[in-house]
Amino acid sequence: MLSLSDAKKIAAYKAVDENITSESKIIGIGSGSTIVYVIERILQLKDSLDKEIIYIPTSFQSRLLITEGGLNLGDIDQYPEIDVTIDGADEVDENLNAIKGGGACHLREKLVAEAAKKFIIVADYSKHSTTLGEKWKQGVPIEVIPFAYLRVMNSLKELGCDNPILRMAKAKAGPVISDNGNFIVDAHFGLIKQPKELLEKIKLLTGVVEVGLFVNMAKSAYFGNEDGSVSIKH
Ligand code: 5RP
Repeated sequence: MLSLSDAKKIAAYKAVDENITSESKIIGIGSGSTIVYVIERILQLKDSLDKEIIYIPTSFQSRLLITEGGLNLGDIDQYPEIDVTIDGADEVDENLNAIKGGGACHLREKLVAEAAKKFIIVADYSKHSTTLGEKWKQGVPIEVIPFAYLRVMNSLKELGCDNPILRMAKAKAGPVISDNGNFIVDAHFGLIKQPKELLEKIKLLTGVVEVGLFVNMAKSAYFGNEDGSVSIKH
């Protein structure tokens, strides 16, 4: 039986092998532990890939992975059109809708995913569900402007979330601050049967910067399975 981290690795490797081609000139790099394997595979294949490829990060973490790997770094404000973006997810449903933002990076992740001709998700078997909310119990990550967080938390209750939580840093020294200087509120809505509708409602709240619901965005998802195989969903 494969560990979760080995399952992430086989999904990441296969997604790189099948989606980074000689046509790929600008590549978006997501964030999280699975993305470490995406970069690892790109570095293994580096000699056979175009030396001019530009890599667009979605977080400070992925920026470091790109620069420490000696790859060419670009930014979304220089390269708003991307060939392929590969990113992890916290949960992915049957229709390839996803919850993202476990690492508080979903604003940049969404921008870089939307800019791509192809957005590919890589994940281990524990992330695959029928309906969002089945597996990821931390709630939907919502990036908010700091001075709006209490207002937004009250409004989230009106939308059906009983207990929105301001995400705190591990040492509980204060709130988690995103790469964009904002707070993250985690809002649990149980099973999310209509993710598009929920996304639209949350997005309309004043003070909300971005919601970690990625609806109708992914072209494919690669799941590393316990038996060592990789399932690809389109
Ligand atoms: C960060 C994300 C990550 O992609 C998500 O949390 C999955 O992380 P991991 O690959 O470590 O399981 O959305 O904001």
